[in-house]
Amino acid sequence: MCHFLVLFIVGLTSSVCKGQHAKPCNVVPKDQYIKAGSDTEVVCQTSCVPGKVYWTLNNRPIDESLSKTVNSSHTVLTLRNFTHPNATLQCHSADTQQILGGTYIRTYSKPNKLSCFLHYENEDQTGVPRLLTCNWEHQIISSLTISYTILYATLSRPSEISEICSSHETTCTCKDKVRVTVKGIATVRAQTEKWVHYSDPYEFYPYNILKMSRPQVEVTAFSDHLLVKWIRSVSSETCHCQVKYDKALSDGTPVVINKTLEPRQDGKEIIENVDSCTKYKILVRCAIDKAPWSNWSREKTVLTKLNKRHVNLRLWRKIAKPEENGFRKVHAMWTEIPSTCQGTFTYAVKRTPNNDVMTGDNYTDILCGNSTCDVVVNEDAHRINLRVLENETLLAQDSVYVPATGESLPQVTDIRTSTLEGVILVSWKAPVELVSGYMIDWTHNGNLYYWKESKHTNTTLFGLLEKMPYNITVTPLFDNETGHGTQVHRVCSRVGDPGNVTIISVEANDKSVFVSWNTKSQEECSGAVINYTVFFGAQNGPMLNVTVDSTRRDINLKELHPNTQYSVYVEATALTGSTKSSARLFKTKRFDPRLPLALGVCGSIIIVLVLSLGLFCAIQWKKFSEKPVPNPGLSSVALWSSPNHQKWMRSFQPFSNPSESPFDQIFTEEHQKTSTSPLAASCTINPASEQTEEYADPAIVDKSVEQHLRSPGESTALMSLENRPFSPYRSQSSVESSASMTVKQFKRVPVKQTERTAPVTVYVTLDMYEQGQSR
Ligand SMILES: *[C@@H]1O[C@H](CO)[C@@H](O)[C@H](O)[C@H]1NC(C)=O
Ligand SMILES: *[C@@H]1O[C@H](CO)[C@@H](O)[C@H](O)[C@H]1NC(C)=O
Ligand SMILES: *[C@@H]1O[C@H](CO)[C@@H](O)[C@H](O)[C@H]1NC(C)=O
Ligand SMILES: *[C@@H]1O[C@H](CO)[C@@H](O)[C@H](O)[C@H]1NC(C)=O
Ligand SMILES: *[C@@H]1O[C@H](CO)[C@@H](O)[C@H](O)[C@H]1NC(C)=O
Ligand SMILES: *[C@@H]1O[C@H](CO)[C@@H](O)[C@H](O)[C@H]1NC(C)=O
Ligand SMILES: *[C@@H]1O[C@H](CO)[C@@H](O)[C@H](O)[C@H]1NC(C)=O
Ligand SMILES: *[C@@H]1O[C@H](CO)[C@@H](O)[C@H](O)[C@H]1NC(C)=O
Ligand SMILES: *[C@@H]1O[C@H](CO)[C@@H](O)[C@H](O)[C@H]1NC(C)=O
Ligand SMILES: *[C@@H]1O[C@H](CO)[C@@H](O)[C@H](O)[C@H]1NC(C)=O
Ligand SMILES: *[C@@H]1O[C@H](CO)[C@@H](O)[C@H](O)[C@H]1NC(C)=O
Ligand SMILES: *[C@@H]1O[C@H](CO)[C@@H](O)[C@H](O)[C@H]1NC(C)=O
Repeated sequence: MCHFLVLFIVGLTSSVCKGQHAKPCNVVPKDQYIKAGSDTEVVCQTSCVPGKVYWTLNNRPIDESLSKTVNSSHTVLTLRNFTHPNATLQCHSADTQQILGGTYIRTYSKPNKLSCFLHYENEDQTGVPRLLTCNWEHQIISSLTISYTILYATLSRPSEISEICSSHETTCTCKDKVRVTVKGIATVRAQTEKWVHYSDPYEFYPYNILKMSRPQVEVTAFSDHLLVKWIRSVSSETCHCQVKYDKALSDGTPVVINKTLEPRQDGKEIIENVDSCTKYKILVRCAIDKAPWSNWSREKTVLTKLNKRHVNLRLWRKIAKPEENGFRKVHAMWTEIPSTCQGTFTYAVKRTPNNDVMTGDNYTDILCGNSTCDVVVNEDAHRINLRVLENETLLAQDSVYVPATGESLPQVTDIRTSTLEGVILVSWKAPVELVSGYMIDWTHNGNLYYWKESKHTNTTLFGLLEKMPYNITVTPLFDNETGHGTQVHRVCSRVGDPGNVTIISVEANDKSVFVSWNTKSQEECSGAVINYTVFFGAQNGPMLNVTVDSTRRDINLKELHPNTQYSVYVEATALTGSTKSSARLFKTKRFDPRLPLALGVCGSIIIVLVLSLGLFCAIQWKKFSEKPVPNPGLSSVALWSSPNHQKWMRSFQPFSNPSESPFDQIFTEEHQKTSTSPLAASCTINPASEQTEEYADPAIVDKSVEQHLRSPGESTALMSLENRPFSPYRSQSSVESSASMTVKQFKRVPVKQTERTAPVTVYVTLDMYEQGQSR
């Protein structure tokens, strides 16, 4: 135990000795709160380091002149008019830059801008207000909780201070704490555990801080004005009031009327210059002199009455072309009393001859619709009178002139129109006569008319329907008559896109396509096409384009790839825009579709050629057959001796002459050709009498004859038939149809198969056969 005690004492002694030996450095005092704008001193204990020190405030060096070295261990910094809300002050060794110590200095300011007002617990109270609300500002950076207290005294007894209200915010409301008849004085105290501060005193006269409750307002509508009446909460004082009014549907700045009310004077204001039959909203607020404004009263909405002065009938008429009996329909039109006007209005139209007041003719009122009336008049000049009645009393009336048919009247000339963003500008040339104005009317459907008057020779038509053609008429007006109207037709309010483009047909070949289209416009005011651009391209390929002028409706697109899927569309461009057709897909052909056609044509030409050649030959054969031939019956047949052969041939000049006809010569064919035929036709020529041994073979004769009979075009066909083995009969059809009928007379006989080595030539005539048969 003793051992421990000794140890403790030793330890304690050593630490005390250490502290005495170390030279402590520090900055004092720590964590100061000072009033903003006051002065303060801070001391840096510098015993731990030799040499000079310097100071920083929020890490910025402080002017050295503020710092004063008292001795080797103390340096004092004097700060004057210190306003930093929260400052970090540090003391540094000048040699080592080491921080020797630091402190915070925070300032606190007094609450300011204290203001109070007296008011009512609810907005509809009157009499003496019971609530006092004070507001103030307090700039402070502090984590400390601040308690605010309002201290109140009357100016006559300033020492009798009472705490009337407390809060932690910069506003405070108390009830029944102030005397409203005498001047008072108020101060707000801000207090924390570290400091307390007071605002400047605030003197007030209660009526100067009295905020009245909102006025109670009543509004009555009269035919030409509105009467506003209101009751204020404090009637004993002079007060200013404001009446604010505006159309209910308006976003504009409302009109404010200032009105000062004497004590015990009630609020009353007349609002003139209001539109007829229009809803207005009215608000009123009041304030005692110097006191704050009351809140605005509850908003009152009122519908104004119809003011007779506002009735503008703008009566106008359109005269139709005279019918056969000379009567004309006059379409009278006017601006009706707005439907927002309450009341029952009747419109009476009367037509009277223009020049005489009373003709004895019964021109009674024609009861009409609310804004138009169709009246029939004869060819004379008339006036159309319109009267508007409310409850049988005349409200307004107007009349308009209807010229006589064919009456010579001035009219305007050279009407020009231009369209600008949905608005039509119209201008014209005045007639030489002096005019009082012009009436311009316009219609898009012939039933519904719009009209307006102009003093100038120009006007602007607004509120038009989009892309609509309008017929516009300008009529000069004279004092109480009118001139003739001059009309322009189909003036578009806006020119739209060009009409819809439709691709009518796409005819694809292998390398080209023919595309045709048309444009159809359902709208009259579509823009005129300037050019068409045809866009086309293979799928996944680039889109190509070709532009053609507006007169074209088709195009042949070339240099396409065969057997490829393409798409095409047409765009029409006008000045005002462009429209596109929908895209059409097509596939180019694999081959040129004209190829088979060409082939077909060539084939047909060949066939025709061949046929005509055949025909020619047939004719030739016919000629030949009709030729007189020597009758072999009269001649004798002798054995053909080879050397004489040529001679013999020559002796039959007509037949052997090649120039006459190549077919006139008949030669037998080589026997091998016929040897395969099992059957062969044989002539009825008697072989015994007319043939030598060598020519005894009928097959040969037959063969030669047949050869002779052949028409040249069919020779091949016949040959092939002949060569067909096992054909029981020779084909006769073609030979029979085109050549001589004598072949029919052949008898068919079996043919012996005979081997022949040398070709033999025989000459026969048909007559010869005939004779032979007849025998
Ligand atoms: C204190 O400083 C403020 C602004 O920093 C200045 O307006 C004021 O005049 C100064 N007061 C004195 C006593 O120097
Ligand atoms: C002092 O002010 C600085 C900013 O200027 C702020 O970052 C710091 O938190 C403040 N300190 C205190 C204690 O309010
Ligand atoms: C009405 O009074 C307010 C303030 O009292 C003033 O600003 C305004 O100009 C006045 N208006 C008229 C029309 O006198
Ligand atoms: C005018 O016409 C009305 C009815 O159309 C008729 O009652 C009246 O007697 C007529 N008056 C004259 C003067 O013809
Ligand atoms: C005229 O207006 C009244 C309301 O002001 C309405 O009841 C009546 O139907 C209208 N008549 C015609 C023909 O439009
Ligand atoms: C029209 O008559 C109705 C009822 O008959 C009445 O309420 C209204 O005030 C009258 N209007 C005018 C302008 O006399
Ligand atoms: C405009 O005038 C033309 C020519 O008189 C006529 O054909 C057309 O119907 C009129 N259009 C309208 C909407 O009145
Ligand atoms: C009509 O012309 C007059 C002068 O010629 C011009 O001052 C006026 O602005 C024009 N009005 C319109 C609506 O173009
Ligand atoms: C037209 O006006 C002239 C004078 O402005 C007047 O003398 C004449 O009587 C009027 N005519 C009609 C039908 O009102
Ligand atoms: C194009 O066609 C559409 C629908 O068919 C139609 O609504 C539109 O008015 C047409 N455009 C024109 C300029 O004709
Ligand atoms: C087609 O017309 C438009 C509009 O005027 C123009 O810009 C374009 O250059 C024309 N295209 C050709 C190829 O002429
Ligand atoms: C048409 O094609 C040409 C290139 O061939 C290109 O420069 C141009 O922009 C295309 N036109 C349109 C309207 O795409």
